[in-house]
Amino acid sequence: MKTICIQDLTVRDGNQSLLATRMEREDILTLAAALDKVGYHSMEVWGGATFDSAYRFLNQSSWDILRDIRKVAPNTKLSMLLRGQNIVGYRHYDNDILERFIRLTIENGIDIIRCFDALNDIENIRHAFSYVKKYNAHLQAAIAYTVSPVHSNEYYIDLVKKYEELGADSICIKDMSGIISPENAGELVRTLKQVTDLPINMHSHTTAGLTQLVMIEAMKAGVDCIDGCISPFSGGTSHIADGTLLAIADQLGLSSDIDRDALSDAYEVANKIADKYIARGDYRTRSLISNPKIFEYQLPGGMLSNLISQLEEQGAADRLTEVLQEVPRVREDMGYPPLVTPLSQMVGSQAVLNVLTGERYKVSPSEIKTYLTGGYGRPPARIDEDFRRKILGSDQPFVPSNSDLLEPEYEKNFAYLEGLLGREPLEEEVVAYTIFPGPVEEYMRRNELATVQPEENPVADVDPATEPVAKSAPVMQSANMRTYRIAVGDDEYLVELEEVSEGS
Ligand code: CO
Repeated sequence: MKTICIQDLTVRDGNQSLLATRMEREDILTLAAALDKVGYHSMEVWGGATFDSAYRFLNQSSWDILRDIRKVAPNTKLSMLLRGQNIVGYRHYDNDILERFIRLTIENGIDIIRCFDALNDIENIRHAFSYVKKYNAHLQAAIAYTVSPVHSNEYYIDLVKKYEELGADSICIKDMSGIISPENAGELVRTLKQVTDLPINMHSHTTAGLTQLVMIEAMKAGVDCIDGCISPFSGGTSHIADGTLLAIADQLGLSSDIDRDALSDAYEVANKIADKYIARGDYRTRSLISNPKIFEYQLPGGMLSNLISQLEEQGAADRLTEVLQEVPRVREDMGYPPLVTPLSQMVGSQAVLNVLTGERYKVSPSEIKTYLTGGYGRPPARIDEDFRRKILGSDQPFVPSNSDLLEPEYEKNFAYLEGLLGREPLEEEVVAYTIFPGPVEEYMRRNELATVQPEENPVADVDPATEPVAKSAPVMQSANMRTYRIAVGDDEYLVELEEVSEGS
């Protein structure tokens, strides 16, 4: 009897997809302790948007939370989600910062690192892969699954072959938007099984309501590991319930190491926690409604729920359909990037701006300009030159990002924090600050420097503790540049908008 392993994602992806990563430390720990007894192959508990959210919304160090999770969950392998050279942020960081982050992650209790690049650009993940191997963690190489004229199964097979050459220990089909068809899930698993002996994990969001069928086909095709969430945090933009996966496995004659009594206990614990967030409105129950339109829009779980809340907060909830229709158009213009962080935020922001300003590409986030000059690596398809010129304002060369050439940031940020804190900062503090300077400095000011007046810094001046929602007014403004707090992706972030001259 073949054994199927189940990975629980509740604390990371479930939290991110249904609660916009607002789950508090106490609840995270209560849940992790209950889930630890279930007998999962592993639990994804950290990374993705949870790192930023800890500082920004929970007033906690994300490293502290990780260490606490490790303490309360000693029996299960812990997994985290890493965005390659983007680490858990929205731009590329230098290799020294990346290596320090990965080493600290492993030292603080992570066993498995699931690593992907939003563009599936090997150049953006090969350094991360090598550091995960260097510090002896399990390297799970993920393909960012999407559907487009340039994304065929052959494309994914080539990618997996490269992953294997680079030392991957397992492969993940990461269907972050929940758009893989049941038929292709089976086909892709079967085909991959012919070219690699590495274990294959299936990750598929239930956004469109197809995941039950996807998982049946993937299991029939011999997938080794499947991702789910405990039932009260399953469904909609999140994942299939662990109990449902177990029922499918039973029906297909697959065994598992799940302790059903412990699963039932964990369900009760999770139910109480879910009730709390439903009562205070952080659990967006609308995100639970199946949305087959996702095949057209391809939004990842976290993005759709945040897009809804952002438009609601700006009093523009009635524009949602327009924005959703604009998303695939922007994506096509940008060379069909898979819609996953940070590309989902960038495409989402641009779509929102195109609709709310009433003119396509009148304003563009600075990240889009960086993308169009190669700062995020190679897009899957060629980008139209006229489109590039319109956004960039002039002809500019496309130079794909090379992390070896990025300026090291550690020493500079160490010195800055030493001055700020009046003590030697910890390595983990410097690394966190480098990735999220604004939220981490605010966290330090609130907790360690409560009496010190903030310096002149208009971006950091916005206190996320008192300003947790997106505002339509700019938080910073100059003659032709405005900075907005935009919440269209897995999280809120600052977007610089620059007027693009008309007709260029
Ligand atoms: Co996911």
